[in-house]
Amino acid sequence: MLENIEECRVNDFISSLSQVDDDILDLKKYALENNVPIIRDEARDFLRFIIDIKKPSNILEIGTAIAYSTLIMHKEYREANITTIEDFDKRIKEAKNNIKKYFDIDKITLIEKDAGVYLKECKDEEVFDLVFLDAAKGQYINWLNDIKRVTKKNGIILADNIFKDGEILESKYLIKKRDRTIHKRMRDFLYEIKHDDELITYIYNLGDGISVSIKK
Ligand SMILES: C[S@@+](CC[C@H](N)C(=O)[O-])C[C@H]1O[C@@H](n2cnc3c(N)ncnc32)[C@H](O)[C@@H]1O
Repeated sequence: MLENIEECRVNDFISSLSQVDDDILDLKKYALENNVPIIRDEARDFLRFIIDIKKPSNILEIGTAIAYSTLIMHKEYREANITTIEDFDKRIKEAKNNIKKYFDIDKITLIEKDAGVYLKECKDEEVFDLVFLDAAKGQYINWLNDIKRVTKKNGIILADNIFKDGEILESKYLIKKRDRTIHKRMRDFLYEIKHDDELITYIYNLGDGISVSIKK
């Protein structure tokens, strides 16, 4: 980080240069007004960069919310087939409306169920070029084997919010008791993906932290 300059100033400056279509800005505005958690601008632009390089034919997104990040990926590479999973009825309704409004409908499949259940049921192997993980943080470690199974060789697994607003960096003794399980599971997830022989993983201090793993 630059010395003497606050990180948020740097981020604001970069955001001011970023070009984003009006429909994406409309969804972002809706999300902010309705307290829907969505990907931060820094992470959003990193995701776009990964898509521009990788040109993934098949994407799995875990955590659709209102389909904001889904739309970002869709617009970045129109050829991609995106399977996106959401299990909260309110969000599913909003996502469906947005998908109807903004997407080439044949490129998107919305799975309306718990991601863990979907991953267990999905018997496919090595189908996705990119898996974007943005759902229940405490479940990533439990889903990891299934995610690796559905990811192609040389495919990318990207996890957002791995620092959980900085909490993950803190000692467990400073974390409220009720949040300790999630704290431990996210630390276990990060340890696993960094030490897994099948993966090459990088962790970046971008947005709320991002991990990028390449399946060997
Ligand atoms: C941070 S939001 C996703 C934001 C979205 N990726 C974006 O940037 O626009 C996380 C979403 O994951 C959903 N979610 C959490 N746990 C889930 C699970 N086990 N299965 C499916 N969806 C889940 C939540 O309901 C929530 O809408």
